[in-house]
Amino acid sequence: MKIIKASNYDEMSKKAAQVIAAQITLKGDSVLGLATGSSPEGTYKYLIDWYNQGDLDFSGITSVNLDEYVGLTADHDQSYAYFMRKHLFDHVNIDLANTNIPCGIAEDPAAECSNYDAKIKSLGGVDLQLLGIGPNGHIGFNEPGDELVAGTHVTDLKESTIDANQRFFASRDDVPRQAFTMGIRDILQAKRIVLVASGKNKADAVKKMVFGPITTAVPASLLQVHPDCTVVVDADAWSLCE
Ligand code: GLP
Repeated sequence: MKIIKASNYDEMSKKAAQVIAAQITLKGDSVLGLATGSSPEGTYKYLIDWYNQGDLDFSGITSVNLDEYVGLTADHDQSYAYFMRKHLFDHVNIDLANTNIPCGIAEDPAAECSNYDAKIKSLGGVDLQLLGIGPNGHIGFNEPGDELVAGTHVTDLKESTIDANQRFFASRDDVPRQAFTMGIRDILQAKRIVLVASGKNKADAVKKMVFGPITTAVPASLLQVHPDCTVVVDADAWSLCE
């Protein structure tokens, strides 16, 4: 694991965006694994700025997103499909036909999951996967548990995750209880991984991810065995590691 320390959220975002920009520049037809949440918003902002300055070209890029809430349509303002359009896709020249997100209202969830994994495979895998981290150490929506699922699957969200994500919804009752998520194998098979973590509420998860035992109780700890994983933290997220 390579750790890049930033002093604050903005610097963290810039450093993560620099790694992604280098990937896009060096391989214009990269498959990018993308994430949602507050953590990568600033990263996307930098990528959009550099695109607007003429320094980045997304026309050859394909994307696969990590996850989506079960039951939300793509135009629901808290769906991850909506998030991606709002925070990245609507602002750069990526071809929407080359963007992939699990369909939250898929009629056959099992087929949606196997088709998603087949899609990732047909693309030749993910070149660079961007990740955030949940306060409980989840990545994507791979929640802590006795075992982790390898491929894309539907998962029940932990109460702590519902608590953490309720800030985006009108009420706690509105937070979906299930989500589609890429599995831990899907994530670990990415050629490169960049994880961004910001804020004191991530400090415990970051410490366990980087220094703790490798355990399914902290899904992000499995990243310790990945050969090319960069963790970009701000000072608050790193505060328990000093
Ligand atoms: C969400 C997402 C994750 C994200 C995490 C942290 O539940 N499924 O992909 O990394 O929680 O979100 P945030 O960055 O908003 O703290």
